[in-house]
Amino acid sequence: MRVAVIGVGLTKFGEHWDTSFSRLFVEAGARAIEDAGIDGGDIDAIYVGNMSGGRFIDQEHISALIADHAGLNPVSSTRVEAACASGGLALRSAAMAILSGMHDIVVAGGVEKMTDVLTERTTQTLATAADQEWEAFLGMTFPGLYAVIARRHMYEFGTTREQLAMVSVKNHGNAIHNPYAQFHRKITVEDVLNSAMVADPLRLLDCSPITDGAACVILASEEKAKEFTDSPVYITGSGQASSTISLHDRERITVIDSTVNAGKEAYKRANVEAKDIQVAEVHDAFTIGEILAIEGLGFVELGRGGPATEEGITQIGGKIPVNTSGGLKAKGHPVGATGVAQAVEIVLQLRGEAEARQVDADIGLTHNVGGSGGTAVVHIFEKG
Ligand code: COA
Repeated sequence: MRVAVIGVGLTKFGEHWDTSFSRLFVEAGARAIEDAGIDGGDIDAIYVGNMSGGRFIDQEHISALIADHAGLNPVSSTRVEAACASGGLALRSAAMAILSGMHDIVVAGGVEKMTDVLTERTTQTLATAADQEWEAFLGMTFPGLYAVIARRHMYEFGTTREQLAMVSVKNHGNAIHNPYAQFHRKITVEDVLNSAMVADPLRLLDCSPITDGAACVILASEEKAKEFTDSPVYITGSGQASSTISLHDRERITVIDSTVNAGKEAYKRANVEAKDIQVAEVHDAFTIGEILAIEGLGFVELGRGGPATEEGITQIGGKIPVNTSGGLKAKGHPVGATGVAQAVEIVLQLRGEAEARQVDADIGLTHNVGGSGGTAVVHIFEKG
């Protein structure tokens, strides 16, 4: 498959008290439109990832809100929801709309405004992505679920507390060079180990933050893209898979099956293998998440994620740089926007526009997870 990415745009990630939800989307969209060199009138459709406008800002029907406030009526606009994988799924839906032949130019975007409510409400809202009856009702939260996985990974494979911390230290280090990131603060392993306990063994600096933000990419058919650029980045593979929503229904909890299966589908469609990937943005909502991702996507063997992180293979300059943007951990995690923001970073890397975070890469990957793995979406990107 080949769908061209001809434009990308982001808002700064963080707290935006002074900006409305739709304005965040419009800001990211306007940057992407300008980057693509298209006109609003060229757009055929919008797909927008959003997890929970209803609970975070009391706003549903956000597809229409966004098309209207972007001045794009009567263009069709569709909201896509799969918890934290909503953005990745919006990207996949937009790519499929182009591959079907129905549309030539489509906006894939994502937006979330999470800081307008108190942390308690945010935590409860995020927990609606878990199984209400068997997990959330009994008090499980997402830090809690990932803490259970982390403990089991430590028990089965000897992954150390320090190795988890090293994921955070790396990603905070990368975010310093990303002007759109929420945090620009260098941290050490000791900082992580001394930060407040959230859900044992995960501490504050093992968790992604609560974030407002939006991201957009403009997709075009291969033919149409030629009108706007000589060197687009192409999406050459897309994979999506489902797994049990509850941890207790899984045969094992140290592997996220949806990640493995979405990865396999994306590799197959792109006709590449894990060893061909040269840069990746993966779902590090918690530090253990990045370790599960690099194992599940086949960058390292099962159980080797901790030692591989310690050896530095996922650092900028390492064998497979991971989360050069700062990842969800330090760039921020506006849940509905994250999957699209990951695509923005990979496109910048493949275009050679990632400035101080730049790596040498022709093939990149994005990996976006919904909940504790009920959904996973993987995309492969290649330089044109
Ligand atoms: N990483 C680093 N620093 C963080 C942080 C994080 N995840 N969360 C908050 N901070 C910082 C704030 O910037 C603030 O710093 P300051 O005092 O210098 O201004 C300080 O810690 C306190 O912030 P506050 O907003 O009071 O934190 P909180 O207690 O409300 O939230 C968590 C902390 C861990 C509960 C929250 O970040 C969280 O829920 N994260 C997980 C989000 C999640 O589950 N996403 C979905 C994944 S599937």
